[in-house]
Amino acid sequence: MSAPPLLVTCGLPYTNGPCHLGHLRTYVPADAYVRYMRRTGEEVVFVCGSDNHGTPIVVSAEAAGVTPRQMSEKYHEHFDRTFRRMGVVFDHFGMTDNPANHARTTAIVKQLIARGHIYSQVVHQAYCTKCRRFLPDRYVEGICPHCGASARGDECDQGCGKHLEPGEIKEPVCKVCGTKAEFRDQEHFFFRLSAFKTYLLPFLESVRGTANAKNYAIGWIKEELHDWCITRTLDWGVKFPGRDDLVVYVWVDAPIGYIAFTEEWAEKAGRDWKRYWCGDNRVTHFIGGDIIYHHCIFWPALLHGAGYGVPHAIVASGMLKVDDHKFSKSRGYVVWTNEDYLDRGLPADYLRYYLLAYTSHTKELNFSWKLFAERINNEVVNIFGNFVNRTLQFGQREFNGIPEGGADPAIMAEIDKTCAVVDGFMRDYEFKSAVDAILALAAYGNTYIQGNAPWKLVKTDRAAAAQVIRNAAQLAHALALLIEPVMPEKAQECWTMLGYSDRIADHRISDAKKPSRTGAIPPPRPLFARMEEEKVIELDELLHKRVRDADRKSEKIPVVSLEEFQKLDIRAGRVLSCEPVNKSNKLLKLVVDIGTEKRQIVAGMQQFYKPEEMIGKDVVVVTNLAPAKIFGVESNGMILAAGDAASLLVPLRPVEPGSKIR
Ligand code: 2FM
Ligand code: ZN
Repeated sequence: MSAPPLLVTCGLPYTNGPCHLGHLRTYVPADAYVRYMRRTGEEVVFVCGSDNHGTPIVVSAEAAGVTPRQMSEKYHEHFDRTFRRMGVVFDHFGMTDNPANHARTTAIVKQLIARGHIYSQVVHQAYCTKCRRFLPDRYVEGICPHCGASARGDECDQGCGKHLEPGEIKEPVCKVCGTKAEFRDQEHFFFRLSAFKTYLLPFLESVRGTANAKNYAIGWIKEELHDWCITRTLDWGVKFPGRDDLVVYVWVDAPIGYIAFTEEWAEKAGRDWKRYWCGDNRVTHFIGGDIIYHHCIFWPALLHGAGYGVPHAIVASGMLKVDDHKFSKSRGYVVWTNEDYLDRGLPADYLRYYLLAYTSHTKELNFSWKLFAERINNEVVNIFGNFVNRTLQFGQREFNGIPEGGADPAIMAEIDKTCAVVDGFMRDYEFKSAVDAILALAAYGNTYIQGNAPWKLVKTDRAAAAQVIRNAAQLAHALALLIEPVMPEKAQECWTMLGYSDRIADHRISDAKKPSRTGAIPPPRPLFARMEEEKVIELDELLHKRVRDADRKSEKIPVVSLEEFQKLDIRAGRVLSCEPVNKSNKLLKLVVDIGTEKRQIVAGMQQFYKPEEMIGKDVVVVTNLAPAKIFGVESNGMILAAGDAASLLVPLRPVEPGSKIR
């Protein structure tokens, strides 16, 4: 019997805030995996959707003065659009608040009740006497019973990270009005998770995916498995069967969304959703490392308890850092997908490349604009782009395209080898290693061209030079096919430049090993543009400004002692000359008299001051800042200015250059 079809899902984004790099770290690799597997000939369905329920969304909607449904629709559309812009293309992108998920969740909960996996119990739940309501999850804050850190109702987010059950939090305070909450009794429903221990251990031993998911989960199971309270006192969500005052916990109906979205897709596509979820299946979940517990323990137990098939693979991504700091929206260490990246005209494919190539999927990924630019320029532009460009340009100039004939066996062998290596890595979710192997083939191409120097050869042996280009074109053809899952748009461009008129995504990966086309090609143009240093400085500054603003907001501006402050040498200076830095439209190069000497300083003020208007100005200079090279020009000090428009700080009354500021 043939293997069941592959169903790939991604963790569902909550609909209370925009898409950021943290989301993409899961979605881009999932999309690359789907693209790759499809192009090996597999039948793959890729579904996802937005996670609409739970208290964070209710709290955000209340703050914004809209209904949770309105807020969910707004962000649902946002995610749908943003994913497409990033080249992440789902077969279906649903909403957990839609009827299909309400129906599927209700059916599953009823099945669980019928099979004895759910029981009721009275819990002491935090209650706010002022707001007159029970305080589920994020409506309450207090102290973690495990480690004593400040925690929110459902999770010790600042301390040990443990999941907290309703009633567990100590010293609860209502998050809405700040009143000290009291505990009141209320009947809730529990999922008997503890009973699944013996089932889950062998399941986890055999589940595929990344080692982090499996190993963490096995460790947790060996410790202790608590039953989960699966109801909440809320209006927003899927009603618990027979109880109008309770909804199911968001972590019940969210993963069930994976099934409901498959049903919605199947309905549209005329397929049977049961093929994917009942019995043997190949459901592969791509998730963030923070929700391993939910996907490796809770979710398979729920599925098994209700009589569904359990996941085939769980692929969990590692942590994300921004500028070497833990990713944090509130502290400003965040990169927003649209605002900071796509809306600035940066190619989706560059970010896809970085996310896939930076490190192994399960390791910590650090994003900084500098690193990003380095990787793009050194790898994508210099290795991949350079190889394709020199091949096509030389081919066009000397042979009006790609010379006839077949590629040499040694070249075909190199391609074969790369295809085999990439295939192994992709199937093992080792995306970085796969990308490295593809780049190694491009590097091989560069070495091959360099070593054979067709520009020399053409003068003595034209046929041999033609064969070099023929071989290089075969490599470029293979490279385009292999890189498509990583950089779909650029791969298509490369494909078109090779003279193909169809869609590269319709080709099998194995076509890399077939003879590539020869003959006329469209006029070649550079496949990739470099990330310019100036742009990088601008993007970096944007990030730092956000961090500064966040610091200010949280009043976390570091305190410096008088001794520390006195280490700064700040003096009055007079501008002697000023000119724009070559090729920059932001930077000015100034020579400033600081009394004892003349200093060259580079400052980002070109947008605000004409060079001639700076000459003769009295300014304030930090003179003992470590020298730096900005845009290749040495800068020895900093001119002080205030605000986003760089308003210069100047001495009120005339002072001699060199006068110390104190
Ligand atoms: O952690 C989160 O962002 C959740 N919204 C993920 C849900 S994934 C699934 F199980 F539904
Ligand atoms: Zn804790």
